[in-house]
Amino acid sequence: MKSLISQLLASAVASLQQQGSLPAELTPNIQVENARDRAHGDFASNLAMMLAKPAGMKPRDLAQQLVDALPAHQAIREVAIAGPGFINFFQDSQWLAVQLQQALDDPHLGVTQAAPVQRIVVDYSSPNLAKEMHVGHLRSTIIGDAVAKVLEFLGHHVLRQNHVGDWGTQFGMLLAYLEEHGVDEGAELGDLEGFYRAAKKRFDESPEFADRARQRVVALQAGDAHSLALWARFNEISLGHCQAVYERLGVSLERQHVRGESAYNDMLAAVVRDLEQAGLLTESEGARCVFLDEFSNSEGKPLPVIVQKAGGGYLYATTDLAAMRYRQQQLQADRVLYFVDQRQALHFQQVFAVARKAGFVSANMQLEHMGFGTMNGADGRPFKTRDGGTVKLIDLLDEAEQRARALVQQKNPQLDSAELDQIARAVGIGAVKYADLSKHRSSDYSFNFEQMLSFEGNTAPYLMYAYTRVASIFRKQQRDMHDCSGLAPLQLDADAEVELGAHLAQFDSTLQYVAREGTPHSLCHYLYELAGRFSAFYEQCPILAANSPAERDSRLRLAALTGLTLRQGLNLLGIDTLERM
Ligand code: ARG
Repeated sequence: MKSLISQLLASAVASLQQQGSLPAELTPNIQVENARDRAHGDFASNLAMMLAKPAGMKPRDLAQQLVDALPAHQAIREVAIAGPGFINFFQDSQWLAVQLQQALDDPHLGVTQAAPVQRIVVDYSSPNLAKEMHVGHLRSTIIGDAVAKVLEFLGHHVLRQNHVGDWGTQFGMLLAYLEEHGVDEGAELGDLEGFYRAAKKRFDESPEFADRARQRVVALQAGDAHSLALWARFNEISLGHCQAVYERLGVSLERQHVRGESAYNDMLAAVVRDLEQAGLLTESEGARCVFLDEFSNSEGKPLPVIVQKAGGGYLYATTDLAAMRYRQQQLQADRVLYFVDQRQALHFQQVFAVARKAGFVSANMQLEHMGFGTMNGADGRPFKTRDGGTVKLIDLLDEAEQRARALVQQKNPQLDSAELDQIARAVGIGAVKYADLSKHRSSDYSFNFEQMLSFEGNTAPYLMYAYTRVASIFRKQQRDMHDCSGLAPLQLDADAEVELGAHLAQFDSTLQYVAREGTPHSLCHYLYELAGRFSAFYEQCPILAANSPAERDSRLRLAALTGLTLRQGLNLLGIDTLERM
């Protein structure tokens, strides 16, 4: 609807330009918003106010001219000018009903499919394999997965890339320890965290061990077979841990999506050579760097991107440059999204700029860092265990499920144990994921079990419960939500019906927005609002006790589309719905 109104306004602008009443060189940025007060319309645009000054007209006069030049469309029942020059649009509810009816018959629920289809790399999760996954990896994993699913639902070709940290100096320490303790005692690796700590302790205490660790790194980088075998074994175990977390979380990452830092090792020398040939390299204290004018520190001193250390070693940035080139040439990506901590913002700005300067990526390949803030504890400080350690993701999920189980049992004591387990799992995991997804990714957020498990407010349990209410309507009717054949058509009469219908029709624009901005919280917000409007509708518009069979059928259709939209929306967020809870 908003994009339709934008198109209509654009064509009004064009015709005023043709008539000469608006300067031809204006290219307005047309914005259409939901109207705040429905009495004044469903949508509003401030276009006349934006253009008044450059056009040398009074906003209300320009608004009138735009309205006069606006092409008619069945979707719009009425257009009005309000306040200082807002143009307000009332949508036609009959037209809306037809759209909803079509959405109900469409497996994509009326969501516009991408054209052209893009090849989109989504770089997410990407933990360092030397340690076990901890809460710091939760955000990247969950947010990245939700966006990947939305892009796929829109028809794009998504290429998941798990850029794990599987290379680097800390592996020397781990391999030396693994060797010392014998590979067969690998059982210790069941607890990677403990293994890392033990290796670190040995490293700090024994200079002789530290020496061996350093030699291991050199051997590894030189391609020594024994070192590589140890390394491969270690990574195998560590990746197994990650995979267990993904499965537990219902995250769609698989082993085939892992392309870690080590995969780019052979390309790093070429990256540096090509930067040199492009005339971009400067030597500074033995290290090889790229200086770009646009990056300087607060004193105006240029900031380097170091690509090779004085000793010859390569860096995180070098690997990212190689990965960009790979994504361009091999994966043929049109767009690459990086779901990585906000604190790496400068790193990405720099490597993107270097890659473009060096011609590693084409001008039309979009590179976007989708940064996110820190997950804090309830006290607003970085999330830690009671004794100050990092919280293992697995432990966190265990606790979420236990708490969810207790809550659900309290609410519904008749549930048998198997059903209780199933519900607890969906609610517990759903709550953790939703709490993260529902906040704007760029802000920090506080992890709070009580809040995320509440059945009230913008939470997973609330939305999952809203879905079960719709499901139960259909169960009582012995009908399938998916099959509305034989029902009388959908019509929108009561206010609550129109409000629900208008919101349902915005599923499309919501998903397009998430795909563009990488912000699942907009989808959360949408679903929360949807559940609220459904509640109002359910209270005000009886379904089974409707005044006529036609009215009942229409309301059933609205309920069906609500249920399907809630379920699809939650599934895109990676949250399972239940038929009852
Ligand atoms: N392993 C890195 C970390 O834990 C994240 C990697 C993100 N992806 C990338 N292409 N740099 O900080």
